[in-house]
Amino acid sequence: MEKYAIIGGHPLHGEVEIGGAKNAALAILAAAVMTDDPVTIENVPDVMDTNVLLQAMERIGVKIERPERHTVKMDSSDIYDCIIKDEYMKKIRASYYMVGALLGKYKRAEVPLPGGCNIGIRAIDQHIKGFKALGAKVSVSHGSIVAEAKELRGTHIFMDKVSVGATINIMMAATMATGKTIIENVAKEPHVVDLANFLNSMGANIKGAGTDVIRIKGVERLHSTVYTIIPDQIEAGTFMMAAAATRGDITVRNVIPKHLECITAKLQEIGCRIYEYDDAVRIVAKDPLSSTQVKTLPYPGFPTDMQPQMTVVLGLAQGTSIVTESIFDNRFKYADELVRMGAQVKVESNTAIITGVERYSGATISAPDLRAGAALALAAMAAEGETLIEDIHYIERGYEDFDTKLRGLGAKISKVKTERDLTKFRFQIAN
Ligand code: UD1
Repeated sequence: MEKYAIIGGHPLHGEVEIGGAKNAALAILAAAVMTDDPVTIENVPDVMDTNVLLQAMERIGVKIERPERHTVKMDSSDIYDCIIKDEYMKKIRASYYMVGALLGKYKRAEVPLPGGCNIGIRAIDQHIKGFKALGAKVSVSHGSIVAEAKELRGTHIFMDKVSVGATINIMMAATMATGKTIIENVAKEPHVVDLANFLNSMGANIKGAGTDVIRIKGVERLHSTVYTIIPDQIEAGTFMMAAAATRGDITVRNVIPKHLECITAKLQEIGCRIYEYDDAVRIVAKDPLSSTQVKTLPYPGFPTDMQPQMTVVLGLAQGTSIVTESIFDNRFKYADELVRMGAQVKVESNTAIITGVERYSGATISAPDLRAGAALALAAMAAEGETLIEDIHYIERGYEDFDTKLRGLGAKISKVKTERDLTKFRFQIAN
């Protein structure tokens, strides 16, 4: 199994290009099956999650071409099955987007129950509630969700909980329903808006994405489109945190600065200097960092997907910080690993109390999930000495070329498989 070997203690400097948003791509690729016309999607990140979804779609008859690494051309005119059998799909959370997409178009879907990161109970009751409200029969059997309807009819749905996934899934299912659907208390994340824009570019009639209420007038058919996915808010935020953790100076390019405001505000508050440009943000972290309080919230609040990276930074800030996780119930599993690197973090229920230390020190640790894995890599780059990170397949689920991009910023990081690779890496760094 490959690991990251990292020799820390070097501030990261330079510019890094941010890729397309993984979470937007997952929703948009799924939604693309809703038209029989060819669709071209640009800025698709080449990461495991999107690739698994594309493979599963190929197995139900979607023709997929990848003329360039980040461009996907899809032709869904020959779909011959609404049953996704691919067990691998359980590994990605967004497998359930195929329910909304297939149900919306073909009025039937059977998809293995979602997996994804192990960060707590991830219920799907709001998705099911939405599908049922639109007129579908939904059951869960043999580890799969089965949804079918004679007809989907527009309706008024009030979400009990703000859920990104349920908002996206219901939006897809309602796009080709008869009549009007109003969904209240929806998620406002940038990728919810991106999906609505994508569906509208195929002829859907969706209004209000990005606010608390989405209004959809069902259309009979969707048509061909060429669409470019938004930049990844979380990838950008992760590199911003890398600058903060290593006391570096990084410019993240190809971003939408507005999407990063919830992150820049916190970094400014703890003493980083931020410079915003049209499509780039520069973060300079030369001054000592100070403590703060952070609570994860739905957008535009501080993203839960940035919580571990923020905790890593606060572990190096003067004073005591408090991080409260309000979205998922098991998202501090990485704290033990961070403590092994010398951090002072105490977790009580959904709160982490962090007393800043001067430095982390290298250790052998493992990535417990995608974002925490990336956060631990940041800790390793800030740490004195060598860190080995195991289970990096979690990180590769959502970060394209993570180690290459970090090396471009001056990080001493390498993917190693064998003892020989590790010795070679050490030799190269020493010389
Ligand atoms: C999406 C993101 C994930 C991010 C999360 C929150 C994708 C592929 N994943 O996950 O990276 O961390 O949003 O920003 O886009 N809930 C219910 N019932 C439901 C659905 C959700 O109780 O039917 C709960 C969840 O258990 C969780 C909270 O609502 O506590 C938020 O979950 P949700 O917004 O649905 O997250 P995901 O869409 O799974």
